[in-house]
Amino acid sequence: MPAKQVLIIYYSQTGQLADIVNVFSKPLKTESINLEIVRINTHHNFDFPWTSEKFFNAMPESVLNIPSELESYSLKQEKYDLIIFAYQPWFLSPSIPANSLLSDPKFQKVLNGTPVITLIGARNMWLNSQEKIKEKLKTLNANLVGNVVLIDRHQNNISAFTILHWMLGGKKDRYLGFFPLPGISQKDIAASESFGSLLLPHIESGNWDGLQDKFIEVGAVEVKDDLMFIEHRAGRLFSIWANLAYGKKNRCTILIFYKYYLLIALFIVAPIVLIVNNLLFKHFFIKQVNRKKQYYLSIN
Ligand SMILES: Cc1cc2nc3c(=O)[nH]c(=O)nc-3n(C[C@H](O)[C@H](O)[C@H](O)COP(=O)(O)O)c2cc1C
Repeated sequence: MPAKQVLIIYYSQTGQLADIVNVFSKPLKTESINLEIVRINTHHNFDFPWTSEKFFNAMPESVLNIPSELESYSLKQEKYDLIIFAYQPWFLSPSIPANSLLSDPKFQKVLNGTPVITLIGARNMWLNSQEKIKEKLKTLNANLVGNVVLIDRHQNNISAFTILHWMLGGKKDRYLGFFPLPGISQKDIAASESFGSLLLPHIESGNWDGLQDKFIEVGAVEVKDDLMFIEHRAGRLFSIWANLAYGKKNRCTILIFYKYYLLIALFIVAPIVLIVNNLLFKHFFIKQVNRKKQYYLSIN
């Protein structure tokens, strides 16, 4: 049997997603698979660490899916048996580099008619962004067959705080010596090797039936009620802010307001709304919540 052609393609700013890709793909380095790993970049370099201004300045284009020019990259094949598209969300949307790749005609051509697995390395909010990716893959005639998601498992406010420390300070270390390490834990990254192993027989057979169920069963993708609740509401509000700022003369001023809005929404409003929802409303809507969770876990 000829070797299966598998492409893993991704952007990574700090190297976190690069680590995930390397670990996840270990089991795929076999004789039956011709594995090609491509790391892409945009012409515009998103400097790391970020300044606060540059960080929030990435919001409108992320949310409105406005692509940026890519540095040239090459693909060895014209057709693949599987493409693993690894990406990270920015502002509840695919990151600008990830979205730029999806808008690139060369990549679009290989996506056409090809099975795709999305591999996400996020803080903890990836649902809106995956919805946008699903839409885009559909219009490009690609066939989503699996979704694996790695997140920072710490409490939402703690992980938001530590990621800001990491993104703006440039070091993935413990803030003040006692906050948890930012980002996805090394343990979870190491565990992603087993998700790659689950994938192997499906690549070899070319049959994707049951793959996502296996991923769900082993916790390769999880949906948390509280985060789903927050993200649902935040997604719509981010669109309003993005449209307010994009292409406007007073963009900088609007983004300063957005920054304070986000900090207040995340650290003050969201926890209060969650407590009220969990105490008073959630139990009336358990069925809807579970239905929604199942939807986000699935690849449909
Ligand atoms: C500008 C920016 C916005 C981000 N927004 C989100 C987000 O909305 N949801 C989320 O789960 N993670 C978010 N993250 C975290 C990233 O998804 C990612 O996990 C982190 O940047 C490390 O990825 P890397 O491999 O590119 O370095 C954001 C990161 C950046 C830099």
